[in-house]
Amino acid sequence: MIHATDTVLVIDFGAQYAQLIARRLREAHTYSEIVAPTIRASEIAAKNPIGLIFSGGPASVYAKEATLVDADIYELGIPILGICYGAQMIAQQKGGRVERTKEGEYGKTILTLEDTRGVAGGTLLQRTSKSQQVWMSHADSITQPPHGAITTASTKAATVAAFEDRKHQLFGVQFHPEVSHTTNGQQVIENFLKYACNTSGDWTMESIISGATKEIQQQVADSSVICGLSGGVDSAVAAALTHRAIGAQLKCVFVDTGLLRLNEGAEVVEVFERNFGMHLIHIEAKAQFLAALAGVTDPEAKRKTIGELFIRVFENAKAQAGGAKYLVQGTLYPDVIESGGKHASTIKSHHNVGGLPEKLDFGLVEPLRHLFKDEVRQVGRELGLPDEIVKRQPFPGPGLAVRIIGEVTPEKITTLQQADYIVRRELRNAGLEDQIWQSFAVLPDVRTVGVMGDERTYGQLVIIRAVTSEDAMTADWAKISHDVLEIMSTQIINEVRGVNRVAYDITSKPPGTIEWE
Ligand code: XMP
Repeated sequence: MIHATDTVLVIDFGAQYAQLIARRLREAHTYSEIVAPTIRASEIAAKNPIGLIFSGGPASVYAKEATLVDADIYELGIPILGICYGAQMIAQQKGGRVERTKEGEYGKTILTLEDTRGVAGGTLLQRTSKSQQVWMSHADSITQPPHGAITTASTKAATVAAFEDRKHQLFGVQFHPEVSHTTNGQQVIENFLKYACNTSGDWTMESIISGATKEIQQQVADSSVICGLSGGVDSAVAAALTHRAIGAQLKCVFVDTGLLRLNEGAEVVEVFERNFGMHLIHIEAKAQFLAALAGVTDPEAKRKTIGELFIRVFENAKAQAGGAKYLVQGTLYPDVIESGGKHASTIKSHHNVGGLPEKLDFGLVEPLRHLFKDEVRQVGRELGLPDEIVKRQPFPGPGLAVRIIGEVTPEKITTLQQADYIVRRELRNAGLEDQIWQSFAVLPDVRTVGVMGDERTYGQLVIIRAVTSEDAMTADWAKISHDVLEIMSTQIINEVRGVNRVAYDITSKPPGTIEWE
């Protein structure tokens, strides 16, 4: 589903920043895709991109084990921007020099533009201030730009902090334009797109929606399609988009797995019936899911069990949906990348990607497969979904099962639902909803000793988890005030039976993940 004519490929050298680069390109209305560093020049040519970005990465370009691009890529005549490691690699491969100098640079640094051929800062930094803040993270430095390139900016420790060779369309920046600490970072990316790649800027909400609509229509023709609504933003937007494309050919199924948040089922049904006049097929499957999960404690086994059963339940729902041939899934681009593209290790089997059984009786319609979360929210708004859905926090496909450590039982689900409700309620009462990416409770299957009303207790521990994030690839634990945490803790212990202790998770991602399983 690529609706844009212009594509920029981000070659990922293992940087935590590759996705951020891809998103910045999209913000500049240019479609971007992340590809592995082993990609061959012929494969790139086949994708016909208007530009290439070589991302940063942890290695030294001169190290034996360093991954370098296929040198034939330089012969394709496609504009290239190297960032950090990417810039060093261009220097290394194209006649410049990269060395471990005395000083590395980490964090905010002042960049000074060089007056080159009358334009300070050259193509990328033109019309920005002579001295500006950038974000650096490097131990090695470029000490000589590639053969034929000129230096366009420097810092105290990096004599070649930016270079360009207009003739061969090669550009490099030692700093990270994709991070917000680089004051003119977005400008640098836009200048590359505009002046080197001649982008048409055709990646817009309109083109995304109209392209996806056409694609869905072509894919499914007059077959009927079902979509599982989970209550989350992704499935809701995928459903709304598919509904826009094929109207009544789409039947939405709502499976109550029993693993949803408190009252969630009723809310989903209400919004979809009210907003879209859709009749939902409601399947009550709590008992089935609990039976399948009995005795299952391994996180991956839980995910696979739920993913498989989900599809089986759908297959059974087919008859009710008039023998649907296709299933809509709200899979997003980060899910695709994180579920183990060639160059990413599998961290978790995502319910809607890796958790699927190999034998599927449905064709898959995945209209959001190329979109980042912020793009999905914009599409949802554009399609008229209410804020209560569009702004809803992400919720994992396997639901509360990955927030209950160990075996999932009905009692644990009830305890967790109640504690989770309080966490979300108090966050909203404190006016913090907009600042938090996700906030929820976890039941770690730990019992501790306490004292309540002079009596010894031996009760459940509840963990509060709240994170801030831009895209779930990285996240910081949220610095919620102690007062708010105290209210949550007191209310959980007062209102949720069997809980006598509450703790707050202060782990960021990495090294943790947002969910506990
Ligand atoms: P982790 O725990 O990997 O989660 O840091 C990243 C984001 O993904 C959500 N998540 C899922 N979403 N199906 C989904 O649709 C899944 O199987 C799944 N597992 C995790 C998680 O809530 C967070 O937003």
